Amino acid sequence: MRKHIVAGNWKMNNTLEEGKKLTSEIVNMVRDEVMDDTIAVLCTPYVHLTTARDLIGDAANIFLGAQNCSQHESGAYTGEISVGMLSSVGVSYVILGHSERREYFAESDDLLAAKVDQVLSTGLTPIFCCGESLEIREKDEQYEFVTQQITNSLFHLSQENFSKIVIAYEPIWAIGTGKTATSDQAQEMHHKLRTHIAGKYGQQIADETSILYGGSAKPSNAPELFAQPDVDGGLIGGASLKSRDFVDIIKSF
Ligand code: 13P
Repeated sequence: MRKHIVAGNWKMNNTLEEGKKLTSEIVNMVRDEVMDDTIAVLCTPYVHLTTARDLIGDAANIFLGAQNCSQHESGAYTGEISVGMLSSVGVSYVILGHSERREYFAESDDLLAAKVDQVLSTGLTPIFCCGESLEIREKDEQYEFVTQQITNSLFHLSQENFSKIVIAYEPIWAIGTGKTATSDQAQEMHHKLRTHIAGKYGQQIADETSILYGGSAKPSNAPELFAQPDVDGGLIGGASLKSRDFVDIIKSF
């Protein structure tokens, strides 16, 4: 059985006080209301991590995540944060390759491959993002494009290391636009990705890889998305900033 994961990507939002309030509300609601073993991940900005860690405490099934990391282990890289630092404050998951980082910070497939290696070498779990632009979808080239992103940044991994990866499919045209992929579009891409993984690493590893959907997911559309056989959870942006919405999405399985 692959894991069901709902990760909240706060992006660059929330002061420390706002983050404390949000985290406390989520921790309380998850404790009182989430009865299955769906994993919740809070991917906060760096400055929130230690506070969020303390508020999460030993809550079952809630984990801490970061939104990025350096490809370097340590050294003279002003302004950067290493995976070792993230690990030392209790981070378990690291989002890599978000389309906003690819677009605004020019993160290439090769750079992301190096970041994936860093994250895995420290024993943390990458949440590796992929997804096509509207232009690519309109040309009906989305499957080639997204599978190529996976090949370029992940297919150098050993079978053992690949089995530790979580994938998030986030069509760029659906991020923050209110325009969600239909459940059929999500299922079709997730199935193609799983088949692509099976071609390289075998069916068992493919069947055990959690593939999350991201892009305008909310409580009203999450149940239908999560009901798809190849959709194993979500990477949630806007709706992860509202405790009620985020927890309702976690409860959508
Ligand atoms: P929205 O849920 O706000 O569309 O953002 C999705 C996303 O980019 C999560 O990483």
